[in-house]
Amino acid sequence: MAGDFKVTPWEVTGDIDYDLLAERFGTTAIDEKTLSRMKKYGELHMMLRRNIFYSHRDLNVIFDEYEKGNKFVLYTGRGPSGHTHLGHIMPWMFNKWMQDVFGVEMHFQLTDDEKFLFKQDATLQETKRMAYENALDFIALGFDPKLTKIILDTENIKTMYPIALKVAKKINLSTAKAVFGFDNTTNIGSIFYTSMQSVPAFLPSELAGHNVPVLIPCGIDQDPHFRACRDVAQGLGYLKPCQIYCKMFPGLSGSDKMSSSDPFSTIYTTDNAKEVKKKVGKAFTGGCVSVDEQREKGGNPEVCAIFKYNYYLFENDDEKLNELTIKCRSGKILCGECKVALTEKINKFLEEHQAKREKAKDVIHDMTFEGFRW
Ligand code: TRP
Repeated sequence: MAGDFKVTPWEVTGDIDYDLLAERFGTTAIDEKTLSRMKKYGELHMMLRRNIFYSHRDLNVIFDEYEKGNKFVLYTGRGPSGHTHLGHIMPWMFNKWMQDVFGVEMHFQLTDDEKFLFKQDATLQETKRMAYENALDFIALGFDPKLTKIILDTENIKTMYPIALKVAKKINLSTAKAVFGFDNTTNIGSIFYTSMQSVPAFLPSELAGHNVPVLIPCGIDQDPHFRACRDVAQGLGYLKPCQIYCKMFPGLSGSDKMSSSDPFSTIYTTDNAKEVKKKVGKAFTGGCVSVDEQREKGGNPEVCAIFKYNYYLFENDDEKLNELTIKCRSGKILCGECKVALTEKINKFLEEHQAKREKAKDVIHDMTFEGFRW
């Protein structure tokens, strides 16, 4: 049924209507006017041209401040529940582009506390280990080591806790229930958690001793946290953090979101070439049942996971993407060929990424907030 989908920070189900979702959350579309403003700063990122980063809160405030010479800080994060997959690095790549274009600081929060609290069988040891693994992937994308800080909640808690407390005091249980869907079975740590995710939105101001604008580029599923965060900001004397949101990275099985609960539809940054080949080989496509039929009727790129991977990450060139669309629709290219081409692209990317990931081990300790050691 249309509109029958669910997006929360913990659960994404159904066929997402992204415009309707933005409307439900109350976020603003990134329109032509905003895009042409962004063009002034640098050539538009592919994820902006393609409406993948598609919605925002107060983006213009960030640019107004920037133009006044008031640099903002970028903030994004990751709940370390397991290895990093392509769906995670998609918004991180956009963050890296933003850092390059604006030359600003980047703060990356790893919420080992969150995943411990929300995942039944998680241990703190395991979420901390995964935080380290995830941080390697983040660093591998090329963030400026001088401008980038990695926050780990359980390690940086001494600095974070006073801010988290101020936030927690302003959010009552009925708001938490309404925004996050908590009920009487929810553990009390989970109820407190959103105040931890608010901390990096206010931390730059605390560190600087004056208000610093913060922009959060991330998946739109995180909006409930930042709605709560924005609601308390001014009462605490802070600026409201601003957001720029992307759609969820699709799964290989044709679902709307790549998810670790379905390992076959998920490509991890640690996968080897054989695994990638196997997973892409099994992917859901928009092809017909027989070659003859497809030559005659053509395929449907709109529903095809392989096409979506090109669209979201692996085909930067708009013209080439367009050619692919035409070839697919007219039956000139078959799913097998597309799968081979995509496998090659992913494996090339992963080979390079994995090498950078190894090198990240040398610098990771220089990039931790307040110099904590893993
Ligand atoms: N809650 C996020 C997750 O489960 C992790 C996170 C913390 C985050 N701070 C963030 C994500 C800021 C995006 C932006 O992955």
